[in-house]
Amino acid sequence: MKPTIFSGVQPSGIPTIGNYIGAMRGFAQLQDDYDATYCIVNQHAITVPQDPETLRQMTRQLAALYIALGIDPKKSTIFVQSDVPAHTQAAWIIMCNTGIGELERMTQYKDKSSKQESVGAGLLVYPPLMVADIVLYDAQFVPVGDDQKQHIELARDFVDRFNARYGEDTLVKPEGIFPKAGGRVMSLQDPTSKMSKSDANPKSYISMLDDPKVITKKIKGAVTDSLGIVQYDKINQPAIANLLEMYSVLTDESIESIVARYEGQGYGNFKGDLAEVVVSVLEPIQKRYEELLAGDELDKILEEGAIKASEVANRTLARMEKAIGLK
Ligand code: TYM
Repeated sequence: MKPTIFSGVQPSGIPTIGNYIGAMRGFAQLQDDYDATYCIVNQHAITVPQDPETLRQMTRQLAALYIALGIDPKKSTIFVQSDVPAHTQAAWIIMCNTGIGELERMTQYKDKSSKQESVGAGLLVYPPLMVADIVLYDAQFVPVGDDQKQHIELARDFVDRFNARYGEDTLVKPEGIFPKAGGRVMSLQDPTSKMSKSDANPKSYISMLDDPKVITKKIKGAVTDSLGIVQYDKINQPAIANLLEMYSVLTDESIESIVARYEGQGYGNFKGDLAEVVVSVLEPIQKRYEELLAGDELDKILEEGAIKASEVANRTLARMEKAIGLK
């Protein structure tokens, strides 16, 4: 039996090159060695206001992107979270066994709630839903970017607590898989903040569906500094360090060797070449994506995925309900 992995992405915007580098690139790479389940977590997306039609569209687009970037539905399970009711059912049990203080300490909650005029309760109880996603599939490993570390820790603490209270073998304790490099890709407009698909300024991110011309424009327009030297110095040149990391992860070339090649040159050539690298990675994905959106296989894949996911999730949910006395 292969070890199990679970991961998800919110359809709260088209994924960025940050999502790709930090997590999604690994989804396809891992599926041969792991029993993998990948979810489009649309119920997580509604913790902040979403336009209904846009949410519906983005859910489908994200599913198409999963497959376009190489997740093979024959090897992995791909499904939409709201198609499997066990997630919210398990989340309720998890919420009842999680302290409010623990949830209020989550940095993502603090960040997101400070940006909202009125904060929905879902924003606070988002991590228990994420714990539900993971434990329902007995996931041993969870490939995610660095910003999810705190949520994974919460999941691990929850499993320890739940098992200690209700029986040692009830739930599997998950472990995060974080990328060696590129776990936190930064905004192109502000190298001190994370690149985010829901950023109001589209110049701050490269969407996985951006046109090659737009990608080039955004990279060329990325903020840098006045030193004009391509070198890796995270403290004094965070913007160039971010671009160098992107280049290195996408080409598998070491940062040192990239730096050596641009010695004595300004930022122009380096940025132009990075744009080419990003386009060469995204163009084939975009082509396959368009085909998938136009065809009808996508709906069938998601339907079958939901059936497969439900079987596993319902089994774990029943185990949880039995352990706590609901069954
Ligand atoms: P989300 O949708 O914000 O992001 C999806 C994945 O992309 C990673 N990521 C990044 N990596 C590098 N640089 C960045 N700038 C960057 N921005 C995002 C995230 O770490 C994530 O891996 N809570 C999750 C979704 C989720 C989930 C789960 C993940 C819900 N349930 C269960 C794993 C397991 C989230 O909001 O991801």
